[in-house]
Amino acid sequence: MCGIVGFVGQKQAAPILLDGLSRLEYRGYDSAGIAVITPEHTIDLRKAEGRLKVLNDMTDGGNNVHGCIGIGHTRWATHGVPNSTNSHPHMSEGGKFAVIHNGIVENYIEIKDFLIKQGVHFQSETDTEVIAQLLEFYYNECHDFFESVGRVLRRIRGAYALGILCADCTDRIIAVRKDTPLLLGFGEGENYIASDVTALLPYTRDVVYMDDGEMAILTKDSVQIFDAMQQPIEKAHQHIDWDLSAAEKGGYPHFMLKEIFEQPDALRHAISPHLRDDRVVFDDMKLKPEQIKDFTRLVIVACGSSYHVGVLGKYTLERTLRRSVEVQLASEFRYCDPIVDDKTLVIFISQSGETLDTMEALKEAKKRGAYTLSIVNVVGSSIARGSDDVIYTWAGPEIAVATTKAYSTQLAVVNMLALVFGEVLGTIDPTEYAQTVSELKKLPEKMESVLSHHEDIQKYAAQHFNHNSVFFIGRNLDYALGLEGSLKLKEISYIHSEAYASGELKHGTISLMEEGTLVIALGTYGKLFEKAQSNIVEVKARGAEVLALTTESRREEMRKTVSTVLTIPDTVDMLLPNLGVVPLQLLAYYVALQRGCDIDKPRNLAKSVTVE
Ligand code: AGP
Repeated sequence: MCGIVGFVGQKQAAPILLDGLSRLEYRGYDSAGIAVITPEHTIDLRKAEGRLKVLNDMTDGGNNVHGCIGIGHTRWATHGVPNSTNSHPHMSEGGKFAVIHNGIVENYIEIKDFLIKQGVHFQSETDTEVIAQLLEFYYNECHDFFESVGRVLRRIRGAYALGILCADCTDRIIAVRKDTPLLLGFGEGENYIASDVTALLPYTRDVVYMDDGEMAILTKDSVQIFDAMQQPIEKAHQHIDWDLSAAEKGGYPHFMLKEIFEQPDALRHAISPHLRDDRVVFDDMKLKPEQIKDFTRLVIVACGSSYHVGVLGKYTLERTLRRSVEVQLASEFRYCDPIVDDKTLVIFISQSGETLDTMEALKEAKKRGAYTLSIVNVVGSSIARGSDDVIYTWAGPEIAVATTKAYSTQLAVVNMLALVFGEVLGTIDPTEYAQTVSELKKLPEKMESVLSHHEDIQKYAAQHFNHNSVFFIGRNLDYALGLEGSLKLKEISYIHSEAYASGELKHGTISLMEEGTLVIALGTYGKLFEKAQSNIVEVKARGAEVLALTTESRREEMRKTVSTVLTIPDTVDMLLPNLGVVPLQLLAYYVALQRGCDIDKPRNLAKSVTVE
């Protein structure tokens, strides 16, 4: 997620903007910029790739940028690689407008094409620049700042928090919020905007959180707020009494918990740009339908949680495409002299895009002529740049070492890929396709309902945090889901855990079952529900303590076998793990919390493993 700050007052704006951006650095970014309206009524734009220090040095700490009204931005790239041209603020061609943006403009391509036909020249690869250029296009018609913003908002689709300057209106900032956080800060003879309260704490604790569709006009002496119909409204002020650390986590005790609860929004950002007229489309994917039809093998390669997404992908893609799909650990793939050629599609999954094992596996695959498609969160990362094709997950920066929202958005992208490939190959039933798209749209909301029961899991964790070994058992999708649940628990609570295909237990491992062994039994996959139940009976007969996870429609049936049952809303098979992973993430989190572990920075682990 990008960082946004804005200031209007009687002091020099630039140093305040840079200080505000420095308090947003924890969110992760790849470039930064500021824009200030000068006493000569021009917009002084400064921006730089890399750390904020570069921008600080370029502007002498803001002292060589003059003006009392400005906006600032730290960019987490979504459209367009990290560089100074793509960094914000973006200016309109005639220099009238500067815009900072957090979110995604889903229909930027069509608007960009329209403006180019009107003779507009674009500088960057970003979706955001479209907003600046469209503002000037409308302003040249109506010569009214507020009206121009209103026209733009009626034209663009997507999620956006905006801060906007107009060189002709030197006393005000206009702020807009839709599906992306933005708040207003109130001072004495000065007012602020920010993407999160961390940037404002040294200046004010008197804030208003904007709601979707709202606009605000800020001058040094006034803040006017308007609803989606552009009618003036009053909003309650909040007093922020968090300290800085709590503010960075949005009031959550850990980044991991914040990112678990961010998953519905992350899914909205990952899914909605690819949905058009009830179809899934990957506009930026170079792969052509005839190439998809030509592939004779499909291999998925990744590490850790990304590998677990690949295991789920195998089940889903094989069932949808009726083609064999292999999934391999990157660290194994690189040294097994892989049988890969120009008829092989190799999909690499990586949150960071910098995992060495996965990067080296990518090189191996390319050496052998494979077509390489990567699914990555960090825009412009090595794996993204090294692949023939890349689909970004747009989960935003993930700070906690144990991945949650990146995993969930990767899984959503793999599921959408199954739909796209299935449609090309003609192997997916149109009714199933339509039902899956319908459920994809509901996924964020269904995930929110799962999250609303987090206290049930917290209570369970309070009674079961002292086991020495925990088993996650399941079949098919539930087995693959168990792999991730087990890793989450191991990573942050340091409890040994194992995910096991429950049908395999009787071939040896069940000998480990004894009185009190904790078993997390996953039974969300309906087609094998009875099998899951019989495996639960097996382990209970040997004294296991069982926590079961199933769907709401099977809660009573599961209760016949297990007393403690967690549920997720019913949905189509391929989306069950997207909901099922949330209780497992929360279980790991609350167990680790009970054990006093360092949840965001677990021992021995790094966020991105860039070594052998
Ligand atoms: C997940 O919680 C771990 N932090 C780890 O397994 C991670 O998924 C793995 O290192 C792969 O990272 P990547 O997705 O950035 O390539």
